[in-house]
Amino acid sequence: MILSTSIHLAKTYLEKGETIGLPTETVYGLAGNIWDTRAIAKIYEVKARPQSHPLIAHVANWHQVQELADDIPTIAKQLAEQFWPGPLTMILKASSKVPQEAVAGLSTIAIRMPDHPLALKLLSSLKFPLVAPSANPFGKVSPTSAMHVFSYFKGKIPLTLDGGNCEVGVESTIIGFDEDAIVIYRQGIIGKEDIQKAFPQIPVYYDNENSSKYPGSHRSHYSPQTPLVVTEDLKDTLKKYEGKKIGLLTLNAFEAEYPDIVIRYLSPNNSLKEAATHLYEYLHELDALGLDIIIAELLEPSEIGIVLNDRLIRASTSIV
Ligand code: TXA
Ligand code: MG
Repeated sequence: MILSTSIHLAKTYLEKGETIGLPTETVYGLAGNIWDTRAIAKIYEVKARPQSHPLIAHVANWHQVQELADDIPTIAKQLAEQFWPGPLTMILKASSKVPQEAVAGLSTIAIRMPDHPLALKLLSSLKFPLVAPSANPFGKVSPTSAMHVFSYFKGKIPLTLDGGNCEVGVESTIIGFDEDAIVIYRQGIIGKEDIQKAFPQIPVYYDNENSSKYPGSHRSHYSPQTPLVVTEDLKDTLKKYEGKKIGLLTLNAFEAEYPDIVIRYLSPNNSLKEAATHLYEYLHELDALGLDIIIAELLEPSEIGIVLNDRLIRASTSIV
């Protein structure tokens, strides 16, 4: 696999029906031409993704949305104007042109415009939108750098477009429309409050039933190789694993009484946004050290804190 910043090279591979690593502001994707069913098949194969999990389409402009979706609610256009390019994915009614393979046979399609200069440049240079799931083998930690994609898929895909470290660091917020309301299926950095602030007249609610409308919301997800314990009581948990090789993931300023633990501070500045940027990065780092255990401290349950805790809990082997 080549790591490159060449849009031209990326374009050439995609036009040939290849799948490539794509940088976005959230996490890296495994991208292919949405109209090319062989490219889509390759994405599922490389990722070992269950066929029942649909892919997100990534677009360069509103025209492509109109090509992919029918009966688009007015509010969808307004949300796009407000939040795109950015980490907001909208589930719309799929047009009849959309290959069944891209949407796992559903009648809907998830669409977003990523906020990353290289991704936008690439998408604008292509005559087709890209489908892209996160570029991790099914169930593993999402990649936030080109090197992460390289270690997962070297020898399996020809190229990853190297766009540096992902700024947002967690997957996009996924919303759908229920009559006049907005439903949040997966929360990312854009939360209910952000949507409500922009559109105070529209009801917004969480899909608490994890309904069949959102395949892929498994409890277990994003897992490192090393066992991961999440905890609210760091001191107590550390005591329990005394003598083990421990990696510790915490927000900041932990007074380490244990000399042998490897610590990663998610945000020395106490910013949960910064913590989001580093969450997967540090999980990857700690996971590569051959430790016995990674212990992660749950964050304060503010809007972003809840999002990060959700990802940590899904990645964990146990919660204490
Ligand atoms: O930030 C992101 O969204 C990243 C970057 C690469 O854009 N992509 C990403 O894709 O996280 P993935 O495939 O790892 O997660 C997409 C989720 C899956 O759980 C999938 O089931 C759901 O979105 N999804 C996709 N299309 C859908 C649809 N039509 N209806 C309901 N859920 C859908
Ligand atoms: Mg994923």
